[in-house]
Amino acid sequence: MGAAWVHNLREDGFCGACTVLLDGKAVHSCSVLAVRAAGHQVLTIEGLAQNGKLHPIQDAFIQYGAIQCGYCTPGMILAARALLDVNPHPTEQDVRWGLTGNLCRCTGYVKIVEAVLAAASGPSGSAAS
Ligand code: FES
Repeated sequence: MGAAWVHNLREDGFCGACTVLLDGKAVHSCSVLAVRAAGHQVLTIEGLAQNGKLHPIQDAFIQYGAIQCGYCTPGMILAARALLDVNPHPTEQDVRWGLTGNLCRCTGYVKIVEAVLAAASGPSGSAAS
């Protein structure tokens, strides 16, 4: 599960740094009891890359400079993944709405939104899945 690398900043679900996907849905893991996750699929940032290849959203975050301190990055990327799974061709407004549960103190969100939009329209089409 790789939970050791899931950031846990506040424990009140406020910042989204601890976002994981629980059965494909973005949740703030700090506010989910472990018993609720039992028997369910939990995806952390460590599980997103496949066979040593970064997920297109991860690539886009690097390419667009959407990472500064990086504290919010795993949660942002997983929230973006959940968004693109249900809306593979989002508008900028859709992306901003999809990331409302994740706070970033560094970037001003512009590069993050650009990265998610780029991942959604990347060479392989949608960055979903
Ligand atoms: S990059 Fe620092 S909190 Fe987002």
